[in-house]
Amino acid sequence: MTGGAGFLGSHLCERLLQTGYEVLCVDNFYTGTRENVAHLLSSPHFELMRHDVTMPLYVEVDEIFNLACPASPIHYQFDPVQTTKTSVHGAINMLGLAKRVKAKFFQASTSEVYGDPKIHPQPESYWGHVNPNGLRACYDEGKRCAETLCFDYHRQHGLPIKVARIFNTYGPRMHPNDGRVVSNFIVQALTHKPITLYGDGLQSRSFCYVDDLIDAFILLMNSDEDFTGPVNTGNPGEFTILALAQKVIEMTGSKSELVYQPLPADDPLQRQPDITLARSKLDWEPTITLEKGLEPTIAYFRQLLETRGMTMHQ
Ligand SMILES: NC(=O)c1ccc[n+]([C@@H]2O[C@H](COP(=O)([O-])OP(=O)(O)OC[C@H]3O[C@@H](n4cnc5c(N)ncnc54)[C@H](O)[C@@H]3O)[C@@H](O)[C@H]2O)c1
Repeated sequence: MTGGAGFLGSHLCERLLQTGYEVLCVDNFYTGTRENVAHLLSSPHFELMRHDVTMPLYVEVDEIFNLACPASPIHYQFDPVQTTKTSVHGAINMLGLAKRVKAKFFQASTSEVYGDPKIHPQPESYWGHVNPNGLRACYDEGKRCAETLCFDYHRQHGLPIKVARIFNTYGPRMHPNDGRVVSNFIVQALTHKPITLYGDGLQSRSFCYVDDLIDAFILLMNSDEDFTGPVNTGNPGEFTILALAQKVIEMTGSKSELVYQPLPADDPLQRQPDITLARSKLDWEPTITLEKGLEPTIAYFRQLLETRGMTMHQ
């Protein structure tokens, strides 16, 4: 697994180990950490390797989950050239490896391939509305090109591929300072700092709890060989950003106030997965409500802030 020490990767490593896999976790620790997988290091079935996927990798594996890529705008815009390299050169290197060792290949794609969508909710057949040279392009276009590479390796070399288009996911081990809305709000609420809303806060998002998403990954990887995706994986339940902020304030008992700031460039106003395909092909849909998923997520951040001496007083 590439990007295995990140938020989603660490949960996937855990799940694969539980189901009897031998896991090789490959990560350059750009946004991931050893702490995210520290609890797995003692397993004889787990191996952690520091490696940058923009460089070729020579290992023997049966399946590749390609998750390496910073996922939050703050991190992927920090070094946009490296972001494109990670998505594109990373995909070339990992697909090349898959071809050499005849491994099944899973690609963590993203709802960002739809850009600022003109269709709502977005089915997989929608080609998207992406600014090719804006601030988000390094991520959006990098991921689009990675999808292209997957499908060309499939058509040209018969490589078995599985492409998941992941929508906003949250849960324990998200990076606390990555500016993603759920972690941002929870950290702001727990420290009683103002909660920042962009625009009028009425833009909508859908939030999937990580355990639901990992179920979808496993089902997709084990689906019929002729099913390649791309398949939307996310929670279609829609909330406004404002409603999320209010829920987090309520669940943390925070005294935070809401403050409004201008919308960042190319920030989509609406984003919601159409998961009809995942329902029919994978027999999957999310089952964990926002409230249920927020509980362990808030507990995780509370503990993280406490260990960092940033405990808040109510
Ligand atoms: N979390 C979400 O809501 C979401 C949504 C859509 C897509 N995704 C995709 O899922 C994947 C995982 O996302 P995440 O939320 O866990 O993000 P994350 O930033 O926590 O994890 C990404 C991991 O990739 C590693 N990485 C980055 N560049 C690398 C490189 N060049 N070589 C090796 N490792 C590298 C990072 O160190 C990190 O461990 C990403 O590909 C992301 O684009 C996530």
